Amino acid sequence: MKDFSDLVTDLIEATRNHEQYRDQECINMIASEGLKSPAVAEMLNLSHDLASRYAEGENDLQGHVKKRYYQGQKYMSQIEDTATDIIKSLFRCSWADVRLVSGTHANLATFKGLSLASKNNKMVVTPLSCGAHISHDYTGLAGNVLGLDNINHVYNIDEFNIDPEKSAYVIRAAKPGIVTFGGSLFLFPHPIKELKEVCDEVGAYVAYDASHVLGLIAGGEFQDPLREGADFITSSTHKTFPGPQGGVIMGSPTTPALEKAVKKIQFAVFPLSASSTHLGRLPALGVAALEMKLFGAELARQIVKNAQTAGQYLCENGVKVLAEKKGFTRSHQIAVDIRSFGGGKKIAKDLEDANIILNKNLLPYDDQSDKDDPSGLRIGFQDITRRGLREGDIKHLCDLMLDVIKGKRKLAEVKEDVLALKKEFCGVKYGFQNVEEALNYIKH
Ligand SMILES: Cc1ncc(COP(=O)(O)O)c(C=O)c1O
Repeated sequence: MKDFSDLVTDLIEATRNHEQYRDQECINMIASEGLKSPAVAEMLNLSHDLASRYAEGENDLQGHVKKRYYQGQKYMSQIEDTATDIIKSLFRCSWADVRLVSGTHANLATFKGLSLASKNNKMVVTPLSCGAHISHDYTGLAGNVLGLDNINHVYNIDEFNIDPEKSAYVIRAAKPGIVTFGGSLFLFPHPIKELKEVCDEVGAYVAYDASHVLGLIAGGEFQDPLREGADFITSSTHKTFPGPQGGVIMGSPTTPALEKAVKKIQFAVFPLSASSTHLGRLPALGVAALEMKLFGAELARQIVKNAQTAGQYLCENGVKVLAEKKGFTRSHQIAVDIRSFGGGKKIAKDLEDANIILNKNLLPYDDQSDKDDPSGLRIGFQDITRRGLREGDIKHLCDLMLDVIKGKRKLAEVKEDVLALKKEFCGVKYGFQNVEEALNYIKH
């Protein structure tokens, strides 16, 4: 192994190289990532002491701090309460918990809390191959950590969505404690409205994992889970919602059953699964929420438009884009079947060599064992939309992708064009350039 100081030097250099490479030189199209504004990044830097502190405690049914175990908390409690109120206001709910350090953590606390509240270990989820996140699945957090029994929604491959009629049979027969919606390959709104009644009938709580689409929801696109029947939203705060890395849970506990659920979820946050809740991210979360309140509708609309434009353009140019008859997508992502051009593994790598970063992805009809070389690519448009690309620019980018996919030009040549495109779009739109600008905007 290397000398200790060489290791530290390597670490610092690799970090600098990474920042230059992914932030300055790549077109980033991984659908699960987000792009923070300079104001959000500055707020993170300004929260330096806060990021070193602990705030173990208990919260009330508004999500406000009720009890703390350490001293020195007066501003920290104010920060947590205020961040909670900002999130409640933006998403129009009466309770939120911002103590989660990630989307997976939000799922952990919610699934655990709801299984305790319902005294029922069964959870209906989307199959992993049809877009669920590993944390929903019996092979991941839900099964292997929490010991939940998974029963799958019935998925309609032609519609790229949960089949509401057939899933209603599954829910009636299984009588689960939790029915979960949302996912990672997530093109169309899930049928919460259609299944709410049967969930109520069997006494199941409805959870919706909005990790991928939280920014679209904030902007009034895609779907409005809390108004459609979800009891709780769980989410990351750093994908289409362009905040710092973290997690959140939201709901409106208007009945005794929902109040009981909130209490159990809070118990599952602390003491069951968190000690430090990484408070240093909360001020930046609030700034990101302000940006979404002001610019979120325009941003979300453009993200979806860009994704649909790419779907149409790639399709017209001979690439099989999923869900053509449904307009390709209503979210920030599209899925393409790239098998006839060499498969997901090869094409994702070729695109990486041209500095276009995305991921290979299993498609709903793929064999689960094809994970290493699936048919598909998943392509996300939230990052490049925030950089300012619009429909014309998206078509230009698709032309570069087509050059790679079809092997029409040398990868090094395409990379030069990608670098030029990135130079043109290196700023961040739909947000503030610094914290002062955000404060001035609010004041005037
Ligand atoms: C649907 C869904 N839920 C949860 C997560 C996990 O989020 P985190 O990385 O914040 O733990 C992901 C990650 O991409 C996701 O796609």
